[in-house]
Amino acid sequence: MAERITVAVLAGTTREKRESIKAAWYIAEFGRQLPDVEIIFVDPKEFYFPGDGNDPEGKDPRYTEITAKADAFFVITPEYNHSFPGTLKRMLDSELENYNHKPIAFAGASSGNWGGVRAVESLLTAVRETGLVSLSWDVYFPRVQEIFDENGAIKPEHKERYDRNVGKLYDELLWMARLFKSAREANTTDS
Ligand SMILES: Cc1cc2nc3c(=O)[nH]c(=O)nc-3n(C[C@H](O)[C@H](O)[C@H](O)COP(=O)(O)O)c2cc1C
Repeated sequence: MAERITVAVLAGTTREKRESIKAAWYIAEFGRQLPDVEIIFVDPKEFYFPGDGNDPEGKDPRYTEITAKADAFFVITPEYNHSFPGTLKRMLDSELENYNHKPIAFAGASSGNWGGVRAVESLLTAVRETGLVSLSWDVYFPRVQEIFDENGAIKPEHKERYDRNVGKLYDELLWMARLFKSAREANTTDS
């Protein structure tokens, strides 16, 4: 039996009419079907980050606990002005040590044809500084408003393609997570 892996799935925005949350729900639900995987869904609407930075008073203790427990991260970001939302930056910035030597997968979403690729590209620079280790490919949801129905379910005509691509991304994420987890456990004094 493979070692159980905890994946924190991070939604990227609090926008009231957000469409990218449907992609985040879909990715979380996909992960819940995988063996030996625990998914913790992080909706920034349910967390509170009172200020910028990572001083103790700027943290949400529940997010701290999740990042400590997580072996891997999967972030779903919409594209806002060719970048990622400030909410996501503030949430990511609020922690540091808990990210080190853990892998992260990216999904982008947009209402146009680019699928959030510029948001993911700009997020990479920030994420690299945290100690998280990025996968070498991503998944994109261009015209995200056309991929899911009003209840958030993926439409049948899109399901096969996204199941295949998200499945491959999870395979890679979990492979890296297991490798890094055993390395962290073998050398707990070396951060
Ligand atoms: C402030 C703001 C800026 C945006 N900028 C871009 C952009 O630069 N490129 C793009 O493709 N879509 C842009 N969009 C549209 C989003 O891609 C669209 O809202 C999509 O549904 C994903 O975001 P959502 O989860 O907020 O719905 C922008 C949306 C907002 C609210």
